[in-house]
Amino acid sequence: MAVRAVYPGSFDPLTNGHLDLIERSLRIFDQLVIAVVTNPAKTALFTDTERMEMIRESTRHLGELEMVAFDGLLVDLVARVGATAVIRGLRAVSDFEYEFQMALMNRKLREEIETVFLMPHEAYSYISSRLIKEVAGYGGSVKGLVPAGVEERLRAKLGHR
Ligand code: PNS
Repeated sequence: MAVRAVYPGSFDPLTNGHLDLIERSLRIFDQLVIAVVTNPAKTALFTDTERMEMIRESTRHLGELEMVAFDGLLVDLVARVGATAVIRGLRAVSDFEYEFQMALMNRKLREEIETVFLMPHEAYSYISSRLIKEVAGYGGSVKGLVPAGVEERLRAKLGHR
């Protein structure tokens, strides 16, 4: 039986750390669904459509990946798409507490779903979408930290050259 996993996140925007995790997940799981949260309470720089377009453009080399937008409980989405695992990245100890709480809450909600933590390549261990937006917002270079298409869109969105 094919093992199906969901990789959820805000992806605002996709970074090379996310991409690294997608590639690692594809080596472990038979099928991967990238789930883009569309939480209206979280103010995103990019629209849902833009965030999904950036993922689509940056993962072309990996074939056609399954992607969904969702705005409810993650575990319900996981069950709906017939997956059994949630993938989350752990960059540093500082990620651990929040991720631990989410994993255990998700287990409380649906105990049949496992959270699997993967470590991105150490070259990406300090990257976050938040920091990328901050640096790009002040005109700093994020080259090599995000896919080229994302870099381009950040420039267009934030008005830098
Ligand atoms: O990329 P992010 O912002 O760290 O991703 C967080 C995400 C989307 C995985 C998390 O906020 C989430 O699962 N949201 C869906 C709502 C939900 O299920 N909340 C309870 C989590 S215990």
